[in-house]
Amino acid sequence: MPPDVVRTTDECRRWTEGARLAGRKLALIPTMGYLHQGHLALIAEGRARADVAAVSIFVNPIQFGPREDLSRYPRDLEGDLEKCERAGAELVFAPTPEEMYPQGFQTFVEVTEVSRGLCGDVRPGHFRGVATVVSKLFTVVRPQLAVFGEKDYQQLQVIRALNRDLGFGIEIVGVPTVREPDGLAMSSRNAYLSAAERPRALSLWRGLQAARALARQGVRDVRELTNAIRRELEAANVRPDYVEVVDATSLVPLSRFEPEQPARALVAGYVGQTRLIDNLALNG
Ligand code: PAJ
Repeated sequence: MPPDVVRTTDECRRWTEGARLAGRKLALIPTMGYLHQGHLALIAEGRARADVAAVSIFVNPIQFGPREDLSRYPRDLEGDLEKCERAGAELVFAPTPEEMYPQGFQTFVEVTEVSRGLCGDVRPGHFRGVATVVSKLFTVVRPQLAVFGEKDYQQLQVIRALNRDLGFGIEIVGVPTVREPDGLAMSSRNAYLSAAERPRALSLWRGLQAARALARQGVRDVRELTNAIRRELEAANVRPDYVEVVDATSLVPLSRFEPEQPARALVAGYVGQTRLIDNLALNG
């Protein structure tokens, strides 16, 4: 069955209210569309854990910086609806920017500490835009659980903090990164890569794996771990944005890796004009 498609917050609220009254457990999967296997894994997780998987598709203008790629962000609502149907999503909420941010909109949500550093430094205002739209989606849909990818690791921590601090009471589920067969993390932005850039993009994953291998071999100096990542980027002519090893929850940078303390390596870099990110747990 094709999913029901609602375009306004009122329609969406009515639909989800009906499901709740019928005693059905709702899972929300927020996306910006142009769906790939990574998104579909989140929908599958939502379906497995709830009665209804509700997908939102909204390219959120307020999380893009002035020099970022809002206008060229890939879109394909028709294709997305087919994928949602095959994945078993029952509801798709696809609002317009005017619906989400009507004239006079002036309320924003800011998560402070975990929004700082990493992507927060190079994309000022980005996580404020994410936290605001996700808060609005939580309020309109009122799901029992919401599913996010570890691919955007800092975003996942921002949402966990937001949910805890504002008392939404939603179960936040994180799903491991879905990768191409060669290891490249799936991303809508991979569509921007030229044939020549595609193999270079793999350097992020290679670097992360090299760092984890060193950590497993007993390397404790974080600089040695991040240098291993930088070497892979350099060899592929990928300009690093940041390369860091941080505490897996607080995202505070570490100088020493201790196997007992959950740590995560995170990397962002430019392959030509395209900015890609990836991350990996170093423990285990
Ligand atoms: P978007 O980039 O479309 O991603 C939607 C969700 O899919 C996010 O939770 C993201 O982490 C997850 N995802 C993306 N690629 C993945 C992969 N390869 N494996 C697993 N999960 C993956 O993230 C956003 O949209 C927006 O910021 C949003 C949360 C919708 C707010 O606007």
